[in-house]
Amino acid sequence: MNILVVDDEKLIRWSLRERLTKEGFTVAEAEDGKSALSAFHQEPPDLVLLDMKLPDSDGLSILRAIQKETQGGPEVPVIIITAYSTVDTAVEAMKLGAFDYVAKPFNMDELALTVRRALDTSTLRREVRAHVSERQASFGVHNLVGKTKAMKEVVDLVKKVSQSGASTVLIRGESGTGKDLIAKAIHYESNRADKPFMNITCTALQDTLLESELFGHERGSFTDAKVQKKGLFELANGGTIFLDEIGDMSPSLQAKLLRSLEEKAFKRIGGTVDIKVDLRVIAATNRDLEKLIQEGKFREDLYYRLNIITIISPPLRGRREDVPMLVTHFIRKFATEFKRDVRDIAKEALDKLQSYDWPGNVRELKNVIERAVLLGSTPVIQGEDIALGRTAPPVPGQEDRLLRLPPRGLVFEDLERDLVVQSLERTAGNQTKAAELLGLTRDQIRYRMEKFGLLKTETHA
Ligand SMILES: Nc1ncnc2c1ncn2[C@@H]1O[C@H](COP(=O)(O)OP(=O)(O)O)[C@@H](O)[C@H]1O
Ligand SMILES: [Mg+2]
Repeated sequence: MNILVVDDEKLIRWSLRERLTKEGFTVAEAEDGKSALSAFHQEPPDLVLLDMKLPDSDGLSILRAIQKETQGGPEVPVIIITAYSTVDTAVEAMKLGAFDYVAKPFNMDELALTVRRALDTSTLRREVRAHVSERQASFGVHNLVGKTKAMKEVVDLVKKVSQSGASTVLIRGESGTGKDLIAKAIHYESNRADKPFMNITCTALQDTLLESELFGHERGSFTDAKVQKKGLFELANGGTIFLDEIGDMSPSLQAKLLRSLEEKAFKRIGGTVDIKVDLRVIAATNRDLEKLIQEGKFREDLYYRLNIITIISPPLRGRREDVPMLVTHFIRKFATEFKRDVRDIAKEALDKLQSYDWPGNVRELKNVIERAVLLGSTPVIQGEDIALGRTAPPVPGQEDRLLRLPPRGLVFEDLERDLVVQSLERTAGNQTKAAELLGLTRDQIRYRMEKFGLLKTETHA
């Protein structure tokens, strides 16, 4: 790592160089502002030690120049060296974004420690930023493919909502229309992008378990609560929590959720203290909430709270003009992924896709293209490569049965476990893909993997 030492006192420069070289750093020196900036240009350092009082300029303007220089790129931490008389300016420098300051005469050990800390911090920040921009590239709003008016409206709303202070958002739409994608885009387009995005599917878990997943529990609060556990509300603090299939949440848990939304605070199960959180809650459902309200299965007050901002994810049959674009998108994706030379689709095949009704929406289209890319034998997908209606619900009748129940019956859980294992084997352990093979969400398959002991480590990300 390179360090630039800027100080007009030769002795200070010398002692800093001695020490920092011993620590394994490469040290460059400058005795005034002008040479500091030219040294900075010549060989951009990883850190600058900057004296506040220089013969030709003051440290503050050098600090500003350095910051201007590094704007947008990786930050270069600046540690201010200050004499007693310039402590005020050092404070000013901190406000401008200097990492820290040391007062003359300084202790070399302390200074070396500050340097280490600054470099560790900037490395960490750089890593976080790289990670965040990677996630933004994969999950930003541009991943929502579609040019129709319906889709543009969704994209505009996602952009607006992500930048807004809205603390709750509801996404409605049929299964497979991209609700997960929308929720992630809202998070990764927002200034919460460097904080956690946590999601949970309310369908997969029974009431107490779901409550404990959401709010955590204190030790001994119920039979299985052997240790204290933090819930997603705590773990996602500062970020976004995505409650998928909110329509399946029990009314009593809905009441607790509403209270925590209104108070921006909650209690762990069995806990007595209110834990404050700053969260954006995105809920999604494919169910008719109004009807659920009438049936007494969904709380009206929660509905009004969630309904402040609603994004409707339109069904694919309502925006058929997006089919070609989606097809191109998925051909490219799967051709790369499976290393297949597939580049295009024949008109007849595309016509077939465009006149289809898409009960499974984009998810179904994606599966159809995946299959065509995998199984087709030419670089241009043909009509016969397109198998539609495979995912449509089977018509009751013996020959349409997916599976015949053996005369002796079977253990349902064994079958379930076997299917989960098979799907994971087929997708080389890719949980998202395995889940799609089974028509499950990733949470749902993870829930089952956990249930069957197929998960080695527990992560929520
Ligand atoms: N507009 C879109 N552009 C690109 N891919 C999409 C779009 N909508 C959905 N998908 C893809 O379709 C699949 C299903 O989407 P998902 O967000 O899980 O739907 P939902 O949550 O509404 O059931 C995912 O693989 C997703 O990436
Ligand atoms: Mg979903």
